[in-house]
Amino acid sequence: MSGIIIRPLEVVDLESITAIEQQAHDYPWKQSIHLSCIEQEYPSKVLELSGQVVAYAVYNYLYDECHLMNITTRPDCQGKGLATQLIHHMYQVARQQGMQSILLEVRESNLPAIQFYVKEGFQEIGQRPGYYPTQEGREGALVMRKDLTSLP
Ligand SMILES: CC(C)(COP(=O)(O)OP(=O)(O)OC[C@H]1O[C@@H](n2cnc3c(N)ncnc32)[C@H](O)[C@@H]1OP(=O)(O)O)[C@@H](O)C(=O)NCCC(=O)NCCS
Repeated sequence: MSGIIIRPLEVVDLESITAIEQQAHDYPWKQSIHLSCIEQEYPSKVLELSGQVVAYAVYNYLYDECHLMNITTRPDCQGKGLATQLIHHMYQVARQQGMQSILLEVRESNLPAIQFYVKEGFQEIGQRPGYYPTQEGREGALVMRKDLTSLP
């Protein structure tokens, strides 16, 4: 797909990504959480399609591990390979920063995301019972990991 730019997430993107967050998630992050990630200088990225922010990935580095906290595509742009392009970009920059692996937690009910991560080669390495709040109480997380060392 043409007209795609991937660049750092900045304060100016807060309104766009907060709006996408509310459309795409049952339990959206508050804008203050995104702001806090920017203030802490996480190396997060947005994907622009024809000049509009339509996807973003929030992640951070800890020693030699990259922690992916949030990857989201605006609902009307899902299914077009945009999250795939974004995460592939993330692999490259994480490798350049010396990261050996990527770790994430995902709600056990979030089958589209789990499918996405499995297709990307993530493997389940554990579970965290009751990790996320729900309307009814709590639900567990799958912990998934992808090795980056075999990437060029
Ligand atoms: C998960 C998510 C980021 C995928 O974004 P996307 O841009 O639609 O992903 P892509 O188009 O690159 O899809 C790549 C693969 O992911 C899987 N996938 C994506 N959406 C899927 C769905 N609704 N159901 C099943 N598999 C899905 C498929 O394997 C797909 O490959 P295919 O098109 O060859 O079948 C998107 O569904 C989303 O924003 N969900 C809401 C936010 C969220 O839950 N984020 C993850 C936790 S933070």
